[in-house]
Amino acid sequence: MLETRNLDKSFGAIHVTRDVSLKLERGERRVILGPNGAGKTTLFNQLVGELRPDTGSIHLAGEDVTALPVATRARRGLSRSYQKNTLFDGLTVAENLALAASVATGNAMNMWTDSLAKPEIRDIVDDVANQVSLIPYIHAKVSEVSYGVRRQLEVGVALATRPLVLLMDEPTSGVGPEMAKGFHDLLNNLPRDLTLLIIEHDMDLAFDVADTITVLNYGEVVFDGLPEQARGSQLLKEIYLGSWEDA
Ligand SMILES: Nc1ncnc2c1ncn2[C@@H]1O[C@H](COP(=O)(O)OP(=O)(O)OP(=O)(O)O)[C@@H](O)[C@H]1O
Ligand SMILES: [Mg+2]
Repeated sequence: MLETRNLDKSFGAIHVTRDVSLKLERGERRVILGPNGAGKTTLFNQLVGELRPDTGSIHLAGEDVTALPVATRARRGLSRSYQKNTLFDGLTVAENLALAASVATGNAMNMWTDSLAKPEIRDIVDDVANQVSLIPYIHAKVSEVSYGVRRQLEVGVALATRPLVLLMDEPTSGVGPEMAKGFHDLLNNLPRDLTLLIIEHDMDLAFDVADTITVLNYGEVVFDGLPEQARGSQLLKEIYLGSWEDA
């Protein structure tokens, strides 16, 4: 469903992506681990099209998308849940979801205010609100909900575009342990045919959600395998300098 072949990227003298080849099957849930500065976010930026790799290629559902702009990749089913705030504070939870759904279904941007009246959009909004546990907040303004609920809504907005592949960069960053647990459940309840690629620092989340794990270190894939193999890996223990024991 999503594949990279020999991706390479440098910023001047800094080599941030080194010969990265990944292959995600449809419905696979993969977690990318790696220390700060390992090149995880830079890899995502290449996947979504915000950065061009120096060499190598990216394939989505069997097609080479390496040269396609961000919006075209998004229309083909590659969606990213941003860490930075991309929500509309003055709108309700439902309106934010409707806006994302109407853009994705090709309804004109300036018609979005009516979009909640459209059955096609309402169905998506109800469905997504259910998936990410937003029903209790559906009519609340974004400015009135908690940080944790906003993080849920960010995932919801990405889902409302009906993606094939969803990329998430540290979805639990900044939420407390209680909320992080809720997030695990939320991720585990997403549709099984959705392909997930999640950057995560939290080992518990990684082991809880992942079908497969990729570890990046200095821009290079140093591990690619099953969570239970990752747990036993001496190399990974060394990379994480003991934090592994806490997992
Ligand atoms: N636009 C840029 N120009 C120059 N260097 C960059 C740029 N973006 C990232 N880097 C460098 O590339 C390296 C990888 O950064 P990246 O943000 O991808 O790491 P990361 O694995 O996401 O780290 P973290 O866990 O802290 O989020 C770092 O050394 C960073 O300073
Ligand atoms: Mg990062």
